[in-house]
Amino acid sequence: MERALSISLAILLIPLTLVTLSKISKIKRWWRTRSKLPRGSSGWPFIGETLDFIACAFSPCPESFMSKRRLMHGKVFRSHLFGSPTIVSIDAEFSRAVLQSDAKAFVPWYPKSLTELMGKSSILLINGSLQKKVHGLIGAFFKAHHLKAQITSDMQSYVQQSMAKWEDGQLVHIQDESKQIVFQILVKVLIGLEPGEEMHLLKVQFREFIAGLMSLPVKFPGSRLYRSLKAKKNMVKLVEKIINEKRERNNGKFARDVIDVLINDASGQLTDDLISDNMIDLMIPGEDSVPVLITLAIKYLSDCPLALQRLEEENMQLKKKKSQLGESLDWTDYMSLSFTQDVITETLRLGSIISGIMRTAVKDTEVKGHFIPKGWCVFMYIRSVHLDESHYDDPHQFNPWRWKNKDLSTCSFTPFGGGQRLCPGLDLARLEASVFLHHLVTNFTWVAEKDYVVNFPTVRMKYRMPVKITRRRDV
Ligand code: HEM
Repeated sequence: MERALSISLAILLIPLTLVTLSKISKIKRWWRTRSKLPRGSSGWPFIGETLDFIACAFSPCPESFMSKRRLMHGKVFRSHLFGSPTIVSIDAEFSRAVLQSDAKAFVPWYPKSLTELMGKSSILLINGSLQKKVHGLIGAFFKAHHLKAQITSDMQSYVQQSMAKWEDGQLVHIQDESKQIVFQILVKVLIGLEPGEEMHLLKVQFREFIAGLMSLPVKFPGSRLYRSLKAKKNMVKLVEKIINEKRERNNGKFARDVIDVLINDASGQLTDDLISDNMIDLMIPGEDSVPVLITLAIKYLSDCPLALQRLEEENMQLKKKKSQLGESLDWTDYMSLSFTQDVITETLRLGSIISGIMRTAVKDTEVKGHFIPKGWCVFMYIRSVHLDESHYDDPHQFNPWRWKNKDLSTCSFTPFGGGQRLCPGLDLARLEASVFLHHLVTNFTWVAEKDYVVNFPTVRMKYRMPVKITRRRDV
């Protein structure tokens, strides 16, 4: 009897002991992980510190969320944002190390609504050799001399066409005007479409599509996300038609646009579905960022008459020189405008158009002595680095002169990210902004109406940067 009792007790105790041991080892692991984590706070249950982050992001000083925590915990700290435990970095060296890591350690993180809209094969989401391939092909094409020459000439004619309609005393919204022009360039570069009915159709559908980027991730007929997905389908159909036409024409190996580049690739990795999906996804990073760059530059110049005067002098000088020679400007002329380039660089720093980059750790990782557990997000907040006094004197001041003879490749200046995902559109963005600024300052003077920068959810001007323009009579 006693024997039977001790056997049943043992049967009962063994699993209980095993469960307890495993719980203890889990607690131990949790404690070990926790003790290795950077300092910080997880905030409230579920919402973490998200509300505080958003409140700061809407304020005129969005980096204040980071500044407060930097004082308490340092430049790398732990938090809980947008539903995920997160390591936040405002440390340039740490962020550079994360950006330089490959997909074995970190993969991109985007909100759910965005990943739904982009699809699995989007360049913004794919990893490993396929990402390298697509990124490499697009990056090389955007650097090609013939493309830069074509973009310069297209941008010049679109800008001139737009500006020809402006009349003295008219209120022009720079954000809208630049958006219109930049969209035409982007569509031509990506899919070779000229302004016309199809371009208009694409623009309407694209507006519908991006309206869903920051929506709730719910998909039922009539919902925001559903309508955006439908718009994407319509756009993909148009791109598929263009791909088929290109294949029938068989123009040979000379690439005029990104579709040509991708369909000419002989590796067999790039299906037509992948190409057409990606053409739409490529419009996401290119469509809004360049107009914002142009608009912010005009805003900062309007607030800094000395910089505007210097910019005008430099551009007028070049314009006069070229007209005496009877030549039009090519892309190297625009790049030779050193003060104009410094204005663009300073706008990228002060404006931090993409204020942060997110990654997810695919395994337990240690970066510069900081432990990042598997599944955690890393949020690299570029804006705080760009406004860090240890990198920039008087960082809130718009001061293009600070860039004179300064090296742009330091890790404290990363408006275009870095590593394997460094923005392939960076030259394109600079070129477009240079052409717009040149034609604006050499043809017009303006008085800016009151407006201010909004930083969340994306950087933009509250009233779309209205300026009252007057055509110059001295040119
Ligand atoms: C002022 C303008 C622009 C800014 C500030 C900007 C910024 C950025 C940043 C910060 C990233 C890195 C994202 C990450 O690491 O996850 C990025 C990636 C990217 N950008 Fe840009 N961008 C600009 C213009 C453009 C343009 C004109 C294009 C052309 C279509 C473009 C295409 C891309 C693409 C395709 C990626 C993803 C690369 C990859 O993941 O392999 N961007 N951009």
